[in-house]
Amino acid sequence: MKVLLTGATGLLGGALLDLLISEGHEPRCLVREGSQNAHRLDAHPIEISRGDAGNAGDLGRALAGADALLHVAGIEYAPSVVEAARKAGVSRVVVVGSTSAHSAYEFRSGPKKRMEGVVEASGLDWTIARPAMIYGSERDKNVHRLLRFLDRSPVFPIFGPGTNLWQPVYHEDCARGVYEALVRPTAVGHSYDLPGDEPLAYKDLVKTAAQALGKRTRLVRLPLEPIRRALLLAETLRLPLPIKSEQVLRLREDKAYTYDEAQKDLGYAPRPFREGIELEVARLREVGLIKPKTA
Ligand SMILES: NC(=O)c1ccc[n+]([C@@H]2O[C@H](COP(=O)([O-])OP(=O)(O)OC[C@H]3O[C@@H](n4cnc5c(N)ncnc54)[C@H](OP(=O)(O)O)[C@@H]3O)[C@@H](O)[C@H]2O)c1
Repeated sequence: MKVLLTGATGLLGGALLDLLISEGHEPRCLVREGSQNAHRLDAHPIEISRGDAGNAGDLGRALAGADALLHVAGIEYAPSVVEAARKAGVSRVVVVGSTSAHSAYEFRSGPKKRMEGVVEASGLDWTIARPAMIYGSERDKNVHRLLRFLDRSPVFPIFGPGTNLWQPVYHEDCARGVYEALVRPTAVGHSYDLPGDEPLAYKDLVKTAAQALGKRTRLVRLPLEPIRRALLLAETLRLPLPIKSEQVLRLREDKAYTYDEAQKDLGYAPRPFREGIELEVARLREVGLIKPKTA
């Protein structure tokens, strides 16, 4: 299948690119002018189309001759994705969203849900894949920084009790889920949550990461509520702030999800965090971002 892939220079898109090639498809990648990570595609036998996912004209040109569009670069570009796919006559479209569409906080879920609505109303053969937090290599935004911090520090600060739930998914497992959503006809017209295998409390996530590094890290609890109250007061006084009080509240929100639908329709079977994090530790050691293992 000829697949136009957006987001191939990123964490999930990179794993999807490898999967598409290994499964015998012909990916073409839409890459922004000025992408700092375009070099990541150098070793791949693929066609590159320059353009922005927010520009339906760029997407339309890149879609010429494609059988499907796998849009990983951000669900906020749904309007141009839908417009371009319709104009190009490419009906099969898989769009990657986020489990933050389930958040009780409107500032997180609202924009995602609105964009999902654009895809659902498109009249295309759509599927929406919603990853939970993705980890697995130096390309991830959260866990690789956590590992680097734990690698250097014997203590780790935790805001609040650290009992809120997370369900991070290893990038290759998430990519497998998205890929199966693309190739299985049963996935048309469905949305799938793609979290890790089971939820774990934030403090356990940190402990598991420290164990994977071979570290005995001491967790130091910091109270969350005074920070939130101070932010709330500063907001009332209209002081400019780097973070909103509702973002602090979101830190307390459980991010736990079921994946029965994905398991049933896509054969989705993500690995446990303790396995994925060991792979990430090995990867970060390989590229020299954390210290080598001591005997
Ligand atoms: N990472 C997570 O924890 C997480 C969790 C839930 C959902 N998601 C969703 O999963 C998707 C992939 O996440 P990721 O972590 O792999 O992201 P990432 O590593 O930040 O990569 C983003 C990719 O999208 C490309 N991109 C962004 N804006 C673009 C534009 N206007 N035109 C063309 N390309 C553009 C980037 O290209 P450049 O090389 O030009 O930057 C890059 O290839 C995203 O839709 C994200 O919202 C991620």
